[in-house]
Amino acid sequence: MTKVSRTKIAPEGPVFSSLVQGYWRMGDWNMDPQSRLTFLKQHVELGITTVDHAHVYGSAQAPCETLFGEALKLDPAMRDEIEIISKCGIEVMRGDAPSNHVNHYNSSQSNIIRSVETSLQRLGVEQLDVLLIHRPDILMDADEVASAAALLKRQGKIKHLGVSNFSPSQFALLQSRCDAPLVTNQVEINPLNLSVTEDGTLDQLQQLSVRPMAWSCLAGGALFDTNTDNVQRLQQTLHAIKQEIGAKSIEQVVFAWVLRLPSQPLPIIGSGNIERVRSAVAATELTLSNQQWYRIWVASKGHGVA
Ligand SMILES: NC(=O)c1ccc[n+]([C@@H]2O[C@H](COP(=O)([O-])OP(=O)(O)OC[C@H]3O[C@@H](n4cnc5c(N)ncnc54)[C@H](OP(=O)(O)O)[C@@H]3O)[C@@H](O)[C@H]2O)c1
Repeated sequence: MTKVSRTKIAPEGPVFSSLVQGYWRMGDWNMDPQSRLTFLKQHVELGITTVDHAHVYGSAQAPCETLFGEALKLDPAMRDEIEIISKCGIEVMRGDAPSNHVNHYNSSQSNIIRSVETSLQRLGVEQLDVLLIHRPDILMDADEVASAAALLKRQGKIKHLGVSNFSPSQFALLQSRCDAPLVTNQVEINPLNLSVTEDGTLDQLQQLSVRPMAWSCLAGGALFDTNTDNVQRLQQTLHAIKQEIGAKSIEQVVFAWVLRLPSQPLPIIGSGNIERVRSAVAATELTLSNQQWYRIWVASKGHGVA
């Protein structure tokens, strides 16, 4: 059985599994707490020990952190087997946030602290391994974020700080005010969205030896929707490369494509289907040549390189 390797994600960062299990869609999985625990144990068995959450995931009635916490409560020793990421800063209008009158971002010190304390309580744990600022907030005061993170670290409520969906300049701004290095930038990477390969985001992370985390590697399922020309074109190329490298599915080709990036992203799996998780794990053994990688790029763009 292929087992996922472990990796230090930044020079002063934590050691994570090189594939991460995402829990954004957990509310759709229709699992009872026991089945959620079984799923967690199954992916930990495969070596996927790092789990990705956010304060905003799920619904007011059933936040994903609460669903996960219910499972963890059935076997509290599992906390020591895993690393937990959660995120703060997206504020939405819903029943558990009556003071929100518009969806917005809030990275004030008080909101970061309130959000982390809520996440810890829902998860039933004492500490997050990494806290991410979920989205760049135009009103972000970098000094305030840095001081919130320093306080939460002193209190033992978070171990590390990172960001998500930050541009290189937003990353550099926040880094300039923090007393410890940011440990990741979690960004969207898939053949339908190449923007971080073009806007300097991945260059900056490679320069700093900070590994990105890649969300929606399968474009949230859009890679399987053949209604558009570029998805049809991509699927043809993915199927051809699947044959060439002996992959079992086009998803495996896509994970191998993400893993081929020199900034060494950690793909986050979105599926709650353990067979699809196993398939992603097997993809870590596949390697694409430069030309295979670029054929997917060409299929995505609809034109060749200059
Ligand atoms: N930082 C951020 O802003 C951000 C944003 C989005 C997501 N994330 C994180 O990244 C994780 C992964 O994102 P994602 O869920 O969008 O990942 P994804 O892998 O791109 O999409 C997962 C979706 O694709 C479906 N899928 C997988 N294989 C399929 C197939 N062969 N045919 C049809 N559908 C298929 C899955 O359905 P099944 O469940 O049925 O397999 C699931 O609905 C999230 O859980 C979250 O932790 C972070």
